[in-house]
Amino acid sequence: MQIDIITIFPDYFREAFDYGIVRRACAAGLVSIRAHDLRAWTNDKHHVVDDRPFGGGDGMVLKPDPIFAAVESLTGARRRETVAAGKRVVLLSPQGRPFTQATAAELAQSAQLVLICGRYEGVDERVAEALVTDEISIGDYVLSGGEPAALVVIDATVRLLPGALGSATSATNESFSDGKLDCPQYTRPPEFEGMRAPEVLLNGNHAEIARWRRDAGLDKTKRNRPDLLK
Ligand code: ADE
Repeated sequence: MQIDIITIFPDYFREAFDYGIVRRACAAGLVSIRAHDLRAWTNDKHHVVDDRPFGGGDGMVLKPDPIFAAVESLTGARRRETVAAGKRVVLLSPQGRPFTQATAAELAQSAQLVLICGRYEGVDERVAEALVTDEISIGDYVLSGGEPAALVVIDATVRLLPGALGSATSATNESFSDGKLDCPQYTRPPEFEGMRAPEVLLNGNHAEIARWRRDAGLDKTKRNRPDLLK
């Protein structure tokens, strides 16, 4: 998989992919990730990427022309309809559809993923209308830019690439993969400051352990995310 990030802060991503599963996936050749400076696709002396909003109001809006040029040079397409099969062009914005484990699994099928990081008060809407295949939000809060959201999307997606996780089963047992949260985990010592790990986990009875884990995951879901059980 090829991942291209379009941003006005390419240095933000320096080192970001040098850790853990993402680093291993890059080293194994499962994915190649590059951050590109949007200003490289401007033609004026000052490399201007933003302008005042039509209709007035605070803040600045990212101009459409450098973004269209960037996506065209990275994918060969200038419109959503001509983006080749297997390529996705994603705009990260608080107005997008919610990012979930299912979205990550969908994106993990792509050969190329282009992530556009919004900034300032927004991005000229013609980018969302005509250029991108997906407008995605990572949650109901406003970040100062799409860069942290791009990191989230890349991490959740890359760990689902075949071969990225150590064991083939580890992605199927975790939170959200079956519509509920993962069970709590414990490790040594069995007793810590008066708190004991559940006895059932220490007794080696695998059927009982599996049942306890299922029930404990369900309890946690009821407490923290009752919406998942509806
Ligand atoms: N940019 C600003 N806020 C965002 C959010 N919640 N998700 C994705 N991109 C964003």
